[in-house]
Amino acid sequence: MDSKAFFRLSCGLYIISTSDDGRDVGCIINTTTQVTSSPSQLMVAVNKENYTSKVILKTKKFDVMSLTEDVPMELIGVFGFQSSETINKFENLEVERDCLDIPYLKQHCNAHFACQVQEIIDVGTHYLFIGLVKDCAVLGDAPSITYDYYHKVKKGLTPPKASSYIAPSSSEKKEEQTVTAWRCRICGYIYEGETLPDDFTCPICKKSADYFDPVYQ
Ligand SMILES: Cc1cc2nc3c(=O)[nH]c(=O)nc-3n(C[C@H](O)[C@H](O)[C@H](O)COP(=O)(O)O)c2cc1C
Repeated sequence: MDSKAFFRLSCGLYIISTSDDGRDVGCIINTTTQVTSSPSQLMVAVNKENYTSKVILKTKKFDVMSLTEDVPMELIGVFGFQSSETINKFENLEVERDCLDIPYLKQHCNAHFACQVQEIIDVGTHYLFIGLVKDCAVLGDAPSITYDYYHKVKKGLTPPKASSYIAPSSSEKKEEQTVTAWRCRICGYIYEGETLPDDFTCPICKKSADYFDPVYQ
């Protein structure tokens, strides 16, 4: 079975958020699909270990934002590689609140959907949340980012908790070649230079120098 086949499935990138008594949480997902138009329903798949999933179980509501191609990797780093359990991801971001009092971003998003959870399906590692769309809006005309664009143009990686994660095979040793840069194994950030400082911290996902692999000429 060639798991790369899953990368041929066309999908976008989204931020899913919710709010529990003023505590705002959210994370990146690539698994959002419209299920029906009448009534308007969306389905999202969220890993049970993601803090956002735990809070949605409690609040029974979520907002989905459709991200655009201009989304900075730093934003994906915060929402896709760090946890709302320990940080407030919305701090310092310009947000609006939807009809369910959930925060959504107006920048780097071209649409958002405020959803009330109708049904929860347990599929093992993830929950499928089926949401009834209570309100939605177009926020701009910039093109939606696709998962393919994220991988090919942004050179982004997929963390283990994403539905489409594929474990990497062990890389070949290339002792004879020159190191030109270092690539973060977690988020794909590239540090240009032959030597990575020992105390370096990835600006995207905040991992230490131990998580970097050499990139050869
Ligand atoms: C490109 C990308 C795609 C992702 N897709 C999903 C997904 O479909 N479902 C999911 O549960 N997590 C997905 N994740 C992982 C979560 O965003 C990540 O585990 C996040 O740190 C969880 O944050 P939280 O603990 O605040 O909920 C994805 C991350 C990235 C970077």
